[in-house]
Amino acid sequence: MTDEEIFEGIDRIEIREGMERTVKSYVLRNNVLSDKAKRVLHEYMEKYGLFYSDSFLDYSAVFGNGKPVVIEIGFGMGDTTAEIALRKPECNYIGIEVFLQGFVHLLDELGKRQIENVRIIRFNAVDVLNHMIPDGSVSGFHIFFPDPWQKKRHHKRRLMNPAFLSLLSRKLMKGGYIYMVTDWEEYADEVLSLSSEETQLINPFGGFAPPVTWRPITKFEQKGMEKEHPINEIWLEKADLFDI
Ligand SMILES: C[S@@+](CC[C@H](N)C(=O)[O-])C[C@H]1O[C@@H](n2cnc3c(N)ncnc32)[C@H](O)[C@@H]1O
Repeated sequence: MTDEEIFEGIDRIEIREGMERTVKSYVLRNNVLSDKAKRVLHEYMEKYGLFYSDSFLDYSAVFGNGKPVVIEIGFGMGDTTAEIALRKPECNYIGIEVFLQGFVHLLDELGKRQIENVRIIRFNAVDVLNHMIPDGSVSGFHIFFPDPWQKKRHHKRRLMNPAFLSLLSRKLMKGGYIYMVTDWEEYADEVLSLSSEETQLINPFGGFAPPVTWRPITKFEQKGMEKEHPINEIWLEKADLFDI
């Protein structure tokens, strides 16, 4: 690919459905590619980046092996993504994020540290899941500190809503997990209650989960802790009982 094609590809981050305004879980800020970002994209996009396409990914072709695939949605700056991938080389990771600076930062880390089991895509996660991820193919989802959209009139923008939870469940393989962490208590309660209505999911802990040992503190977690927010962990699994 030429640099121009890469820069153009990275610029498109969502499917536009005609002239309709659909509610988005993100707001885009500063979308301009700096010279450094261009250098990083030039150097590493072909190896570690994915572009949106409306055909399902072939994971073995993407990673060159058949390891289980875990998808992280909204990785922010991506330092946690990189650390988890290094700590757990037995899995492959696909990171999805629309925030340009964060995307470029993680791309640079992956390239400099040669982290072979991660690929990242800059696109709306809802579109990626719907069009690129086969049903029943994902071993786990990581969703760390999704934007809480605190004001009541903004709650409709929350990523974790009934439709999205059902989409995640459909994409999971049997026994696969959804791991969400948030410092916004009322959002945590809401997701816990929504998950009890999703028939394909079980909560092995019957409430909030204990922290796992392999997750480093994320940037947004640090901010939440500084404000003395409680950190709530939610771990759900796709029941083995159901056919997809
Ligand atoms: C509050 S930040 C948390 C970042 C990181 N996980 C952390 O804990 O530091 C949430 C991130 O989710 C991303 N995001 C929200 N909705 C998204 C979507 N539909 N597709 C891709 N990324 C999304 C935002 O761009 C933002 O960077």
